[in-house]
Amino acid sequence: MTSITLKTPHSGEYEQPTGLFINNEFVKGVDGKTFEVINPTDESVICSIHEATEKDVDLAVSAARKAFEGPWRKETPENRGRLLVKLADLFEKHSDTLAAVESLDNGKAISMAKGDVAASAGCLRYYGGWADKIEGKVVDTTPDTFNYIKKEPIGVCGQIIPWNFPLLMWSWKIGPAVAAGNTVVLKTAEQTPLSALVAAKLIKEAGFPPGVINIISGFGKIAGAAIASHMDVDKVAFTGSTVVGRQIMKAAAGSNLKKVTLELGGKSPNIVFEDADIDNAISWVNFGIYFNHGQCCCAGSRVYVQESIYDKFIEQFKARAEKNAVGDPFHEQTFQGPQVSKLQFDRIMGYIEDGKKAGAKIETGGKRIGDKGYFIEPTIFSNVTEDMKIVQEEIFGPVCTISKFKTKEEAVKIGNNTTYGLAAAVHTSNLNTAIEVSNALRAGTVWVNTYNTLHWQLPFGGFKESGIGRELGEAALENYTQTKTVSIRLGDALFG
Ligand code: NAI
Ligand code: MG
Repeated sequence: MTSITLKTPHSGEYEQPTGLFINNEFVKGVDGKTFEVINPTDESVICSIHEATEKDVDLAVSAARKAFEGPWRKETPENRGRLLVKLADLFEKHSDTLAAVESLDNGKAISMAKGDVAASAGCLRYYGGWADKIEGKVVDTTPDTFNYIKKEPIGVCGQIIPWNFPLLMWSWKIGPAVAAGNTVVLKTAEQTPLSALVAAKLIKEAGFPPGVINIISGFGKIAGAAIASHMDVDKVAFTGSTVVGRQIMKAAAGSNLKKVTLELGGKSPNIVFEDADIDNAISWVNFGIYFNHGQCCCAGSRVYVQESIYDKFIEQFKARAEKNAVGDPFHEQTFQGPQVSKLQFDRIMGYIEDGKKAGAKIETGGKRIGDKGYFIEPTIFSNVTEDMKIVQEEIFGPVCTISKFKTKEEAVKIGNNTTYGLAAAVHTSNLNTAIEVSNALRAGTVWVNTYNTLHWQLPFGGFKESGIGRELGEAALENYTQTKTVSIRLGDALFG
């Protein structure tokens, strides 16, 4: 059996594939293994699904290789674009089901899940538009030579995604890879495999040839590691923890030197100057840390406020955080649902204990909500010092730290005081401050008077240990193409 009927409070009954999606078919794993998928809202088992092991990775890679060497290589760029646009249309057509499955499996609020589906469709359609605009160059060197430079696909791309934005990461990875003419073996996170399989049905419906996009469910140490060290995978793209990012790079180095791009963690500073519009700053600081339950690689987890407005800011920020609606992801009003898993819940509670022990003060939150499901109160720590673990390490939950600064120079110095460099924000009404501080912060994205406002047209990725390469925008196509130089010696009669 490779599909079952499930039900969500938002979209009613739907057909949930449970197999591995290889060669446009849902199949069981070769070793016959399955694993349970947990609902983080009530800790119940949603269903069991088929697990990929090394043997299934081999099958998926060979399907992707065959498609790459065969039908996909012959497909016109126009048609690659057409297929991606069709897939985007199907995401919109099935938006209710996709969003509901995302909320069921991940625990994110249904209103946020709908936003993710819309952004996934936007991203797929955007890369559909790029497919026939990937162009080369002609370069003159000497009169008797004709040189052209081509952008070619890399080949079979292994893609390993996390659980915090299952559908969005699916689209960020598949869009540019497929637009550029590659084929894909994508492994979802073991915590959230369901929406990707529903989306896999749409791949077939859109009309992609078999083997172009393969979606497998499985564990990092088994299926993920098999992708990273596979001798016939030409490139690996990974989003997740820095620890695993390092392992992926080592696996690539120790196997076939496949190309590597990494989107890793962050500990992003959110800096508020005294001349900022305070109500606006508070709502973006609140959204910066608590959006998606703090499970964002770019979460604004370190809040720095200029000292003259610090007391006023903290009072209002506390009041704002306490108003965030935490609860059942299927209530339309809910802003924050449960954390994704018991493991993540325990990690976050561990950080909260650690902060308390280190002498930080809990301004609000700090506790579990209820006794079923992985709900945590929006939490603010003050009285922190820069060396504390809660200030240095990624917590990946609804927990931020807040402290004061005096000058612009100090704000930049503490803002950059981390091994990460994914994102940052500045809140100010002074244009010079906005630009000077944005330019001085070592981060891949800087937001001014806003936060988390990602867009598929804008590149996203990390400085320092936050990653290698960029996703989204034209920049992502760099990760999925390689440059070929063709140099032709001409006769020299015309120039004789
Ligand atoms: P993780 O890095 O273990 O998992 C992310 C993905 O990598 C999953 O698909 C997983 O199966 C896979 N994976 C795990 N080990 C692997 C290996 N050895 N080889 C190949 N693939 C492997 O992250 P995890 O444990 O779920 O979360 C831990 C922390 O990582 C979080 O608390 C957060 O700090 C960070 N994280 C960052 C994300 C981001 O968006 N940058 C997303 C998820 C987690
Ligand atoms: Mg789950």
